Amino acid sequence: MITCCPVNGSTPFSGESMSGIIFYGTGDLEKLRSFYCRQLGLAVVLEQADCLLLQQGNLALGFCTRAEVETAGIICFVLVSETQVDEMYHTLKATAENPPGKNERYGIYHFFARDPEGRRLEFQYFLEKVPGLLTGSELLITRRSVREFRDTPVSPEQITDLLELCRWAPSSRNQQPCSYTVIRNRRVITSLAEERGNSSVPIGRAPLAVAVSTDPELSRRYLQDGCIGATYLLLAAQALGLGTCWIADMDREHVKDLLGLPLNHYIATVTPLGVPAATPPVPLRNPLNDHLRWIE
Ligand SMILES: Cc1cc2nc3c(=O)[nH]c(=O)nc-3n(C[C@H](O)[C@H](O)[C@H](O)COP(=O)(O)O)c2cc1C
Repeated sequence: MITCCPVNGSTPFSGESMSGIIFYGTGDLEKLRSFYCRQLGLAVVLEQADCLLLQQGNLALGFCTRAEVETAGIICFVLVSETQVDEMYHTLKATAENPPGKNERYGIYHFFARDPEGRRLEFQYFLEKVPGLLTGSELLITRRSVREFRDTPVSPEQITDLLELCRWAPSSRNQQPCSYTVIRNRRVITSLAEERGNSSVPIGRAPLAVAVSTDPELSRRYLQDGCIGATYLLLAAQALGLGTCWIADMDREHVKDLLGLPLNHYIATVTPLGVPAATPPVPLRNPLNDHLRWIE
């Protein structure tokens, strides 16, 4: 990795990944949507009252309807907490245009400042996570078990995007023994939800369920391969703004019969899948030292 700027001491970004967006004012949001999405293939990751957030790989662009077309943009740093925004404000106070504050219109906490040559900078924290903009570490930390879902349907394209990511799960000898059974049939979903009372009830609250299973004839490590495939599904769903919950408790023979899976296959999990109704509370984790051993 190339380090761009040697830094003395710590910065507000130390130890955290950071993403960013370049924002421009536009006179015709729809024309730009068509150009950047249809012609250049960028995806819309967030649509607000008068702004569009587009992304392709590491490039994120924002266009907002303004009285004047802007060709000089605002370099916007997306930080991971309000505290980071406050810390950055203290670092850049001399050039800051305003102290940090909430902007309800865009659901952000932010302030503007200038770089040494006068370019406009913005430092902001999204009060609600924008899935496409999650960094790797944010993705790992913010994934939650979701047990309440919105009615919003999940499109076949979203399912394809999700499972395209799951194809990259590691597997023993790269045998790729995982199957993902996507269940849309309401009767089958209800039956899965009734498998084990409280443990399985979240399945019934989602528009879809997905069973992750492996074929022991394809891999000797079918238990591990299945669990890794299922873990990828949970993380990929979070990356795409979808919620899941690992449900392990079930009568596997019954579930295989219900889903038409061969009886020798292993089911790692059946998870509900849908747009989370809310961000679930964060269950506490033990301190790292409880889990860490060194052999030297
Ligand atoms: C192997 C395994 C089995 C689980 N079984 C269930 C389950 O049957 N029902 C359920 O609601 N959650 C289940 N969970 C979700 C856990 O309760 C959850 O991961 C844990 O409380 C931590 O919360 P978090 O996922 O939001 O970080 C299971 C998770 C794992 C990894």
